Amino acid sequence: MNVLVVGGGGREHAIVHALAKSPKLDKLWCAPGNGGIAAEAECVEIKATDIPAMVLFAKEHDVDYVVVAPDDPLALGMVDALAEAGIPAFGPRKNAAIIEASKSFSKNLMKQYGIPTAKYEIFTDMNEALAYVREMGAPIVVKADGLALGKGVVVAQTVVEAEAAICSMMGDKKFGEAGARVVIEECMTGPEVSVLCFTDGKHLSPMLSSQDHKRAYNNDEGPNTGGMGAFAPSPKYTPEIAQVCMDTIFRPTVEAMAAEGRPFQGCLYFGLMLTPDGPKVVEYNSRFGDPETQPVLSLLKTDLLDVMMACSNGTLDQLNVTWSDGAACCIVMASGGYPMDYQKGYPISGLDSVGEDVFIYHAGTKFREGTYLTNGGRVLGVTATADDLESAIAKAYHAVEGISFQDAHYRTDIGRK
Ligand code: AMP
Ligand code: GLY
Repeated sequence: MNVLVVGGGGREHAIVHALAKSPKLDKLWCAPGNGGIAAEAECVEIKATDIPAMVLFAKEHDVDYVVVAPDDPLALGMVDALAEAGIPAFGPRKNAAIIEASKSFSKNLMKQYGIPTAKYEIFTDMNEALAYVREMGAPIVVKADGLALGKGVVVAQTVVEAEAAICSMMGDKKFGEAGARVVIEECMTGPEVSVLCFTDGKHLSPMLSSQDHKRAYNNDEGPNTGGMGAFAPSPKYTPEIAQVCMDTIFRPTVEAMAAEGRPFQGCLYFGLMLTPDGPKVVEYNSRFGDPETQPVLSLLKTDLLDVMMACSNGTLDQLNVTWSDGAACCIVMASGGYPMDYQKGYPISGLDSVGEDVFIYHAGTKFREGTYLTNGGRVLGVTATADDLESAIAKAYHAVEGISFQDAHYRTDIGRK
């Protein structure tokens, strides 16, 4: 089969690396890809959101199957456009990708179908939103309704902080139209766990649980980022909790989307908080998480292409998706200054000498004249697998110590909490 992966970060490298092992694969492309991906797939210079160009490329190159990984092309309807051209794809259609693209949609869905989540109100009027937070008090959570690159959420510890968030989203339009509507919700407490599920619209198969680290610095301090590291599985996600999640959250969500005429096919990401009242949904994503995908797919034993096609064909119930018993840990090495301003173009050294059971997923790199150069905020996801989490963490950090580029920054406490 000829397969095209859309996207160009660490998550896409993990998907490409897993697909490259499939005996069914003839040819693999990635658009736009990155320096590391280029070693496993032919990279094509098409922007991930350029739907007409992507469809044209797929038609002209006899692509049999497309994997759309990032949220924005999904929300823009790339899977629908490919389907119209007769090309099957992994990922939800536009009317299902809304589960991530609109927080007010997802909150209303959960309320209507009794899926546990934080209590909330939705506002389109700034003064009403301000009055509401003054009445409710802090801590309280303010969220821009639309896609805001993971930066549209403020967990406000004081009313003043909540007011400032509302004013910047609704008054100053910091996220443009994404913040014209805000969701204000109760602040939940408890450990966070991510569970990504394969689903074909009717059946679902949860992947191993994982945990992201969103803040830039150790001890969860500093600004929010796209994710500074992740490990899988989470020791806090016990089989009992997994069963509760399946019965009260995962299956009800897949059934609710089908009942709404928006069957979700692809990877449905459940961001969960294990609260004192049981597991609750923090957020849904319509795609694989980044960097959770790097450790999670490192432990997948089944052919990823088979699993993805079963999601598209509605035959996921006929497939037994299996996982390695061990654990995996991914440490993100970022450019100095990320998530604010940073420099690009520094040479990276030490990539060839990593140990056994270590794989380096590239997030923001390019390959020029025999050298890998930094080319983004998150540069590498150094990922190790081992029999247990402690050893996976140790192996990953050992590998990180051998890799260097100017101003490299990484957290030293991934998986330590
Ligand atoms: P989201 O983009 O919705 O995942 O939110 C980003 C982060 O904000 C989450 O990973 C949580 O750490 C935090 N967060 C979001 N909603 C809540 C909530 N209702 N209570 C406490 N923390 C939250
Ligand atoms: N790592 C969080 C996300 O992909 O949204």
